[in-house]
Amino acid sequence: MMQNWHVVETEFAPETLHHKETVFTTGNGYLGTRGAFEEGYPGERAVTLIHGVFDDVPIVHTELANAPRWYALTLLIDGERFRLEQGQILAYRRQLDLATGVLARIVRWRSPKGHTVEVAFERFASLADEHVLAVRCRVTSVDFSGPVEIRGGLPGLVDNDGFMHWEWRDQGILAGDGVYLELGTRASGIVLGLGCALAAQGESIVHAVQDCEAHPTLLVRSQLQPGATLVVDKLTTLFTSRDTGDVRTTTVARLRSAIAAGYAALRAVNDAAWSREWEVCDIQIEGDDAADLAVRYSLFQLLIAAPRRDDRVSIAAKSLSGYGYRGHVFWDTEIFMLPFFTYVRPELARNMLMYRYHTLAGARRKAAEGGWEGAMFSWESAATGDETTPRWVPAPDGSLVRIWCGDIELHITADVAFAVYQYWQITADDAFLRDFGAEIILDTARFWGTRAEWNTVSERYEINDVIGPDEYHDHVDNNAFTNRMAVWNLQTALEILAWLDEQAPEKAASLRTALDLTPERLSHWRDVCARMVILQNPETGLFEQFEGFFERRPVSLEDFEPRSTSMQALLGIEETQAYQILKQPDVLMLLYLLESAYDPAVIKTNWDYYTPRTDLTYGSSLGPAIQAALAARQGDLEAAYGHFTLAARTDLQDARGNTGEGIHAATAGGLWQAVVFGFAGIRLTPGGLEAHPMLPDGWRRLRFRLHYRGKRLAFDLRSAG
Ligand code: BGC
Repeated sequence: MMQNWHVVETEFAPETLHHKETVFTTGNGYLGTRGAFEEGYPGERAVTLIHGVFDDVPIVHTELANAPRWYALTLLIDGERFRLEQGQILAYRRQLDLATGVLARIVRWRSPKGHTVEVAFERFASLADEHVLAVRCRVTSVDFSGPVEIRGGLPGLVDNDGFMHWEWRDQGILAGDGVYLELGTRASGIVLGLGCALAAQGESIVHAVQDCEAHPTLLVRSQLQPGATLVVDKLTTLFTSRDTGDVRTTTVARLRSAIAAGYAALRAVNDAAWSREWEVCDIQIEGDDAADLAVRYSLFQLLIAAPRRDDRVSIAAKSLSGYGYRGHVFWDTEIFMLPFFTYVRPELARNMLMYRYHTLAGARRKAAEGGWEGAMFSWESAATGDETTPRWVPAPDGSLVRIWCGDIELHITADVAFAVYQYWQITADDAFLRDFGAEIILDTARFWGTRAEWNTVSERYEINDVIGPDEYHDHVDNNAFTNRMAVWNLQTALEILAWLDEQAPEKAASLRTALDLTPERLSHWRDVCARMVILQNPETGLFEQFEGFFERRPVSLEDFEPRSTSMQALLGIEETQAYQILKQPDVLMLLYLLESAYDPAVIKTNWDYYTPRTDLTYGSSLGPAIQAALAARQGDLEAAYGHFTLAARTDLQDARGNTGEGIHAATAGGLWQAVVFGFAGIRLTPGGLEAHPMLPDGWRRLRFRLHYRGKRLAFDLRSAG
């Protein structure tokens, strides 16, 4: 068995049900399925989310609609239902194999009547064919003789925390060997087809079908003796009207080919697809098993969330692993997750950047609604790119809290442009830049050009009334991150336009017309870049996070230890604003992204000032991995490793207590950055990529691969000690 490739649970603990469902999420870039049990459990969050299958909850929001439990199996042991909340669990082990994406469980269970069985499940969503899903169940009798029945079907009555998105459309029995179910979302009208078949091996097998409305079911019956095993494979295929014009025919045809291949062959092609994936993506850390596993686990979660064949969707903040943030896409994707894809799986990065291209229309609507020109990306984005951030959310005490991010957290617009540019720099994919990326960078610049406000008194441009990355402070003026990134966006747009003029003059001309890039507009951009307010002390290099930050009340976070919640939860939303407490790096985030523009001494000054003011343990989960990368690049290995460990514990250990809502996908991407940009010290220089490694104590060897401008590079770094 390869080391550190398995996430294992050796005991069933109902109190960690939701956490573990998230941890054991499986998927294939098309859908994600939480690790809920095949037989169900009271209070479970059994969730399967399919990319792009959004539907509205009237007035409230748009969200990914939970799909049927394709892995559902009911086991009847001599008439008694196998369920973990009854009878006795004699032995239990659950394991996610990161090498193949297969989730397996073995339970030795004594029924209330006293029959002992060993039940083993394994399931996977095929990476080789994303429409194929498979479960294998083996029931072995330990000490009883009698009937066993396994029921597997398509349970069509699904909800999202009580809200029903699906309407029943059709179902039927497929020529004796399968069942079909068709549902449609209520508001968005997406059709979902599922086909399912059971295959069995064992003694005296009997097959039957129950065509119950919204739950067509297949049955296998057998007689077991002590020592005998019944094996049942459930194969499911699934398509939506986003994939094909004829959902039923495509779903049924794929089911027939899956049946013909059989479980073992499907598993083999899935395993082979994963092994190709890991060849390129894996990171190996020798000498630190916990870090090795945590990083690999993070990459696994990113890989199962990344759309492979669809460029109209992107990875949500909680990937496809839970209801948190309703499947919406944030800056988490471009700034935290995409670097991994850009450097390692550029084809997938391109899909996700294309999602932003396809949602430019929504970004333009958003800008126009605010009275600005160009494209203003939504803080939370779903199918169309229109703003989907909820305006109000319930607080734990039931009161409603106004969320301003959708109105004024503007920096996402520059963050998207930043990711486009980074992708181009690393891949040299000129065709992408010419055909799609340039338009994103130019139209976002157009937004900043109109959003920057001229202050007639100071004779400077300002960007007022915003939220920076640190969301503990809202309605602030001249946030350094926002203003500086806006300038970066404008400068980059000018650079790209010059590049287009040279490389693709026709495209340059057509964008000049389409986006109204007049000489006056371009000279206005230059003026904004030259005269934007950037609050930085010229002597010390210290940035002021926003106007007046230094006048907010200083406070020592240590005085609040020990604590198990965020500073905002402790002090209250309004009160927190009065303090110099950050939810996550803001100035430091800027210095991280634009590192090459700043002197190491400036970074150090700002690090020393802002780090102790940042609520890294319970503020945003986005912070620690970036702090780790920054610290490692400054050579402060102790701080770097401390922050890295904090980030690495986020989901596997449920360090923040909210993993049950879904994976912290930005943290997963941040961990890759902490290792590659931090400890390996990868730098982009005019001569190409360079490593300047500083490995933490105990790390004997660090290996990974990157792509750079069409070349595959393998890094094998060893510690000097
Ligand atoms: C963070 C944001 C992040 C969002 C989604 C918030 O708590 O402050 O930076 O984009 O979560 O992960």
